[in-house]
Amino acid sequence: MKKVVITGGAGFIGSHLLRRMVNRYPDVTFVNLDKLTYAGNLENLLDIEHKPNYRFIKGDIVDGDFLTALFDAEQFDTVIHLAAESHVDRSIANPIEFVMTNVVGTVNLLNAARHCWNGNWEGKMFYHVSTDEVYGSLGEEGFFEESTPYDPHSPYSASKASSDHFVRAYHDTYGMPVLLSNCSNNYGPYQFPEKLIPLAIHNIKNSKPIPVYGKGENVRDWLWVEDHAAAIDLILQEGTTGETYNIGGFNEWKNIDLIKLLCTIMDKKLGRPEGTSAGLITFVRDRAGHDLRYAIDASHLNTSLGWKPSLQFEEGLEKTVDWYLANEEWLDHVTSGTYKQYYQQQYADR
Ligand code: NAD
Ligand code: TYD
Repeated sequence: MKKVVITGGAGFIGSHLLRRMVNRYPDVTFVNLDKLTYAGNLENLLDIEHKPNYRFIKGDIVDGDFLTALFDAEQFDTVIHLAAESHVDRSIANPIEFVMTNVVGTVNLLNAARHCWNGNWEGKMFYHVSTDEVYGSLGEEGFFEESTPYDPHSPYSASKASSDHFVRAYHDTYGMPVLLSNCSNNYGPYQFPEKLIPLAIHNIKNSKPIPVYGKGENVRDWLWVEDHAAAIDLILQEGTTGETYNIGGFNEWKNIDLIKLLCTIMDKKLGRPEGTSAGLITFVRDRAGHDLRYAIDASHLNTSLGWKPSLQFEEGLEKTVDWYLANEEWLDHVTSGTYKQYYQQQYADR
C-alpha cells in the first residue's frame, strides 16, 4: 500500500477512517475522492487536511470517464470504497439516486481500477465497505453470518447488495483482488443528523419531538464508528483476499430503549429534570418495509483477525452526546441548505 484512494472520505465513516489511516501510515499517500453531497463535509477533516500525506479531490463516481482518467494519472494501488447514498428514508423517496451512486458508481470504480491495473494484480486491492442490511431482516432469534443469503428490502440495501455482487463478480471473473466487509449501524461524532442517534440528540437539545417509527420495537446492532475504522484497517492489512468479513458491536438495542437511554443521558448533560427529554418521544408513521431486526455475528473477524469492539455502548453514547453538544457550529453548517429543503418537503408530505 503506497497510494490509496478513499471514496466518500468527507462523510461520516470515511472521515474517521481517513483520520486513522493518515495518522497511522505517514509514508502512504491518501487521496480523499468525494462529490461533497449534502452528507459530505470537509469540516470533518480539519485536523488532518494539512498533513503532507493527505489530499482531497472533488469528483463524482458516477462519471466513469473522469474516474478512468483519474486512475491513469494517479496510479492508485489501493481503493477503499465508501462513497454512497446511505440513508434508507431517502432511498424510499428517490431510489434512482441510489442506483446511480451505489451501483453504477461502484461499477465505474471497479472498471477504472481494472483498466489501470491491467491484469497486474500484485500489490493491488479493492476494498468495498458495505452494510449488514443486505442480509434482510431477522426475527427474534438468530444472527447474520457471512454465509447468510442476501435478502435486501429497501432500495438502499438493494443497491448495496448489488454493489457487493459486482465487487465479487470482478474478483471471480477478472481475478481482481477484493475485500468486503458488512457492518452494523455506526454511531459517533460527525454523523449527519438525519440518522436516528444524531437526529434525536439534535431534537432533544432543541426541545423538539423525537420521531420514533412505528412502536419503536425494531432492533439494531450499534458500533462505535472508530471501531469500524479499526476493523477496516485490520482487514485491509491482514484479511484474506476475496473474503467477506461481518463487523458488529455485539450490541443490540430496541429503538425505543436506545432513545430512552439517550433521553436519560441528555437530561443529565443539559441539567434538565429527569423525564424531560422522554416527554419529547413521539411515535410516528412507520417506515415502509421497515426491517425488524439486524444482528451481526462478527465471530469470523474476531477469531481470524482478533478484532473486537473497544467501547461499551453507554460510554460511546455519552461521548457522542458530548461531541454534538460541543459542536453546535458543525451542526448548524450541515443542517442548513439542501438538508433543510429536503426535510421541509418530507415533513410537509406527512
Ligand atoms: P455518509 O452518507 O455519511 O457519507 C457518504 C459520502 O459519500 C459523503 O461524503 C458523500 O459526499 C459521498 N458521496 C455520495 N455520493 C457520491 C458520488 N456520487 N461520488 C463521490 N462521492 C459521493 O455515509 P456513511 O454513513 O459514512 O457510510 C459510508 C459507507 O459505509 C457507505 O458505503 C455505507 O453504505 C456504509 N455503511 C454505513 C453504515 C452506517 O451505519 N452509517 C453501516 C455500514 C456500512
Ligand atoms: P437509521 O439511523 O436511519 O439507520 P438504518 O435505517 O440504516 O438502520 O435508523 C435506525 C433505526 O431507527 C431504524 O429502525 C429506523 C429508526 N428511526 C426512527 O425510529 N426514527 C427516526 O427519525 C429515524 C431516522 C430512524
